[in-house]
Amino acid sequence: SEAKVLTLDGPGGAGKGTISRLVAERLGWHLLDSGALYRLTALAAKRHGVALDDETALGRLAAELDVVFLAEDESTRALLEGDDVSREIRTERVGDAASQVAGLKAVRQGLLQRQRDFRKPPGLVADGRDMGTVVFPDADLKIFLTATPEERARRRHLQLQEAGVDANLSSLLKEIQARDARDMQRSVAPLKPAEDAITLDTTRLSIPEVVERLTEWLAQRG
Ligand code: C5P
Repeated sequence: SEAKVLTLDGPGGAGKGTISRLVAERLGWHLLDSGALYRLTALAAKRHGVALDDETALGRLAAELDVVFLAEDESTRALLEGDDVSREIRTERVGDAASQVAGLKAVRQGLLQRQRDFRKPPGLVADGRDMGTVVFPDADLKIFLTATPEERARRRHLQLQEAGVDANLSSLLKEIQARDARDMQRSVAPLKPAEDAITLDTTRLSIPEVVERLTEWLAQRG
């Protein structure tokens, strides 16, 4: 039978990345950061001079993406065509391009099998927007992680401050709301909880509290 899967979907800034990594570490499971694949596709498009609305070319690019993920200490490093692009794919510019290419059916189709290939024993923690709805509809546990837009903006602001980046809280809030609207309103694989997902509002929860709750729920499911 297939390896177990825990899916974590939700809007940006709800803590999915951190929570997924910690849960995967705790369980000794594999980790899929599906957003990184959309970011890498957007970056590959830029490198190869492919326009962000050329669906046919972008679909092929996604399917043929030359990517290697290296697990290293606390983080995962991403190599695109042999180059370490771990930092570059985290920029706001690449994130924005990622959310554009993510609206294209051919791109989502091109990345589908690659995402499913991450499912290996003993299990997988899959982080994204459509992990429970499209990529792993038979997951063992589906979580939809949320937090108020204000709280997500506050967390992002803190993160940026810690990284020494100046940022404006109210413009971060506007960006977050715009990205949410785009991800929820798109016709292909829109951001929404799977019917059998548990929605967990993390606004008032600490990271260890969320990790604890998820591992408990997973244990209950056997
Ligand atoms: O999660 P992250 O910010 O890295 O994702 C970047 C963008 O990729 C998101 O804004 C979203 O539009 C898209 N995405 C997606 N489906 C996923 C993961 C990410 O559409 N499973």
